[in-house]
Amino acid sequence: MQAKQYQKLLLELCQSLHEGVHIVNSEGISIIYNDAMSTLEKIEREEVLSEPFRVAFPNIPEDESTLLLALKQRISTESRSQTYLNKNGKEVTTVNSTIPVLDYNGELIAAVEIAKDITDIRTLSNTILEMQGESSQSRQPINGKIKKYLFSDIVGKSKNFTDVLQRAQRAASSSASILIYGETGTGKELFAQSIHFDSDRRSRPFLAQNCAALPESLLEGLLFGTAKGGFTGALDRQGLFEQADGGTLLLDEISAMPYALQSKLLRVLQENYIRRIGGTKDIPIDVRIIATLNEDPAMLIERGQLRKDLYYRLKIIELSIPPLRERSEDIPILAESFLDKYNKKFDKQIWMLSDKAKHKLLSYDFPGNVRELENFIMSAVALASIEHVLSENSLDIPEKAENLNVPLDLTGVTLDEYIEATEKKIIKTALANNGGNISKTANQLGIQRQTLQYKLRRWRSYETAQGNS
Ligand SMILES: Nc1ncnc2c1ncn2[C@@H]1O[C@H](COP(=O)(O)OP(=O)(O)OP(=O)(O)O)[C@@H](O)[C@H]1O
Ligand SMILES: [Mg+2]
Repeated sequence: MQAKQYQKLLLELCQSLHEGVHIVNSEGISIIYNDAMSTLEKIEREEVLSEPFRVAFPNIPEDESTLLLALKQRISTESRSQTYLNKNGKEVTTVNSTIPVLDYNGELIAAVEIAKDITDIRTLSNTILEMQGESSQSRQPINGKIKKYLFSDIVGKSKNFTDVLQRAQRAASSSASILIYGETGTGKELFAQSIHFDSDRRSRPFLAQNCAALPESLLEGLLFGTAKGGFTGALDRQGLFEQADGGTLLLDEISAMPYALQSKLLRVLQENYIRRIGGTKDIPIDVRIIATLNEDPAMLIERGQLRKDLYYRLKIIELSIPPLRERSEDIPILAESFLDKYNKKFDKQIWMLSDKAKHKLLSYDFPGNVRELENFIMSAVALASIEHVLSENSLDIPEKAENLNVPLDLTGVTLDEYIEATEKKIIKTALANNGGNISKTANQLGIQRQTLQYKLRRWRSYETAQGNS
């Protein structure tokens, strides 16, 4: 095929897509601008095609244009949501991905932007937010009914743990942001609440939001609120920052927050005011932020999941709660305090753990940390009858991991096949040891839950296709 024919093919291809496509060449001149993009932005193709980008779009600040970022700094942007007014003054929300295109010599030849109109989804998500706010009034300050944790509830005497605990107690008196790092179940929420209720803010709200629980557009609306008129159908609604005014806002799994939103959060931390989505007013806020991470911050920064600048801003006070396996001294005293708790709850009278039960607990490595220990004791107490000593048999603890030595035999397989088979074996064993619990398994193996789910799905569909089980 000749170059001209390729060009025609590309044009036809772009025209047939429902997504908007905008391509600029290395000089910043638009060479492709398809109908879908034109409909989205309400700009005639002729106004854009063959024009330099800066001429066609004079109102977009240079550092906010993802196309220019791709062109000048070769930065790709994936799935960034943008909200803007199109030429008819209609607010449009799109999800854009932009990539620099390099030729075989590594020279930049073009930048491509692909945009998907999600205005309807956005409207829907705003409606959900409003309904959530109306129906539950769920973001009330924690009151007597909901479990409220205090420093006096925290059990532990090992040195590495009490060091962190003392730092947390000292931190309570200030208003500085706090970053709590610890594996799942180490007590991050317990620490966050204890700090709040020990601080001058205790009579103001303590609100918590898990950043991994919601898609980007919902999370942003929930945190910052929305202003009337901005969005199609959006009402004036307070975000969590405003609702938590004077109090504390716990942002769980902050690394799950999209990158762009992380920088918005950083700005809030620096300037102490927020602006509702679609609003024009700066609203001063006084909220203490406590953020948590389940994984090592350095690794999250390296993987591009946590912004370095945000990390430095948050870690003014950094509390790193050690996993239970690094403070086994605490296992027996925690177990005893949970015995107490569940004796009362289930009206049982188990006075102590047998030596063998203690030993069984001490030789386990607790990937789910204190929460896992609490669950073992809770079920054991719930199922007990009249005995006063908890025996090792009532502790439903998985056996130690099977020896994972895999013989190195590469005959008849490629390296990739060998690695995959080994990986599969490790994952299956870990899954079995964690009773099929995906989160625990991912945690133990040091991989993301989503990654593990993806692998399992892939293997499952492969095995189904092969007729295996
Ligand atoms: N030091 C401790 N003393 C007493 N109870 C504890 C301690 N640490 C954790 N717990 C208990 O373990 C459970 C889990 O704690 P928490 O919810 O604070 O963990 P987390 O670190 O926030 O976990 P995740 O990352 O999964 O959200 C809670 O029921 C809490 O009461
Ligand atoms: Mg938590």
